[in-house]
Amino acid sequence: MPSANKPIALDFSGLGAPFVTQKRLEKRRKDAGRAFALTLADRATGLMEFPRLPGDRGLMKASLDLAAGMRRGVEDMIVCGIGGSSLGFLALANALLHPFHNELPKSARKAPRYYLLDNADADTVGGVLDVVNIEKTLIVVISKSGGGGETIANFLVVFEELVRRRKGNLKKALAQVVAITDPKSGALRKFADEHDVASLPVPPNVGGRFSVLTPVGTFPAAMLGMDVPALMAGARLTNKRSMDADALANPPMVLALLLDEHYRQNRRITVFMPYANGLWRTADWFRQLWAESLGKARDRKGREVHVGFTPMAALGATDQHSQVQLYAEGPDDKTYLFLRTRAARHVPIPKPAFAKDAYGFLGGHTLDELLNLEGDATEAALAHFGRPTARISMDATNAHAIGQVLIFLELTTACVGALWNINAFDQPGVELGKILTMFGMGMEDAGDKVIDQKKGTKARELMERSATRDQALVFRK
Ligand code: PA5
Repeated sequence: MPSANKPIALDFSGLGAPFVTQKRLEKRRKDAGRAFALTLADRATGLMEFPRLPGDRGLMKASLDLAAGMRRGVEDMIVCGIGGSSLGFLALANALLHPFHNELPKSARKAPRYYLLDNADADTVGGVLDVVNIEKTLIVVISKSGGGGETIANFLVVFEELVRRRKGNLKKALAQVVAITDPKSGALRKFADEHDVASLPVPPNVGGRFSVLTPVGTFPAAMLGMDVPALMAGARLTNKRSMDADALANPPMVLALLLDEHYRQNRRITVFMPYANGLWRTADWFRQLWAESLGKARDRKGREVHVGFTPMAALGATDQHSQVQLYAEGPDDKTYLFLRTRAARHVPIPKPAFAKDAYGFLGGHTLDELLNLEGDATEAALAHFGRPTARISMDATNAHAIGQVLIFLELTTACVGALWNINAFDQPGVELGKILTMFGMGMEDAGDKVIDQKKGTKARELMERSATRDQALVFRK
């Protein structure tokens, strides 16, 4: 029987010899020690604040208390948020809720239905408004900066509909909103404070992709009845297991070091492959964490480095039928991180009453046994083809285990960043596109922003230039 609160198991042996020998790891012990010291310094300065979150009981309680106060009478919950303000929540919902949560009868669900609006996709937003009971809907708007264009636009659309249905009663409509944003700055904070909207803070030093254990993840999770205290307890356990000053005994640092060695051997694509539908969104969350944290132009000394892993998400066993041919025989430029678990249900495969010769062997086994075996088989096959693999295993998909997995991956990301001496906690490359979009949507100030300090280029000049690119390569007919 899977036990409730077991530590996750980590097996990195498939990344080691013959690719990276123990001797080589020993040789890099000092590097890893230096990197670990840098992570400690970053914790002290507050640059790396996420490991503090699982111990912040006050912040967790704020989410639990507000959720308890808000849940009465709520049938549907719309969450407006994107990127770091949505992917963590989605990972939790996918892993910890019934796979068809929204379709369950109310009595079995014991929580509202939920809908996530991340993309500014008119059909989705309109579609959500078609299905929710807006008068009994809680609208949760999540934007750390308060300026996420898609998030705010989606919020304005659904809020307007709510006001309309409330016959213009703004006060009643505002009582159905929760804002999650910076505690002091930004337009969303201003809106929440000025209109007395219920709100929760995102700690200023925690970037979106590291914010799943803040109210960004914990408030909607609590609204849906997930076990937030267990999630935090799991994260605390991994935190504790990751403090060994001996770098080669510190699991996130060991994985970081191994992946860095593979990076040096030109394996710069990381395939993250869970074997459970409920972990697919964890892979999606990981993609952002890995890409945005580690894809950087400069190191901390300002030297041009252009580093980064390219993350790929694959789902076992589905993608065995789509991607594994490439993984096995294509270029040797990837490492493979498997996330394994045990299904909560055991569904026996019946002995067939027909075609016994062809299918009889399946009878008597279970579906979860089949999926697990497929995972084992893929790992073994990739090893046979000389491909490096690692495995993170949960005893069961529960909040405690998910808390461990999420923070383990965050810590590993921070360790790679420290090994590369880059800042894993900023995202300067994301900002430009946001500024140009806002300019295009009519925010005049955005066009005057100098976006290339060296050349003094302004956002509006860049947009104009991009409209005059080589017309010979444009096909309109
Ligand atoms: O990781 C990040 O910083 C981004 O993905 C942001 O989370 C995303 O752009 C949303 O930003 P905000 O929460 O400020 O609306």
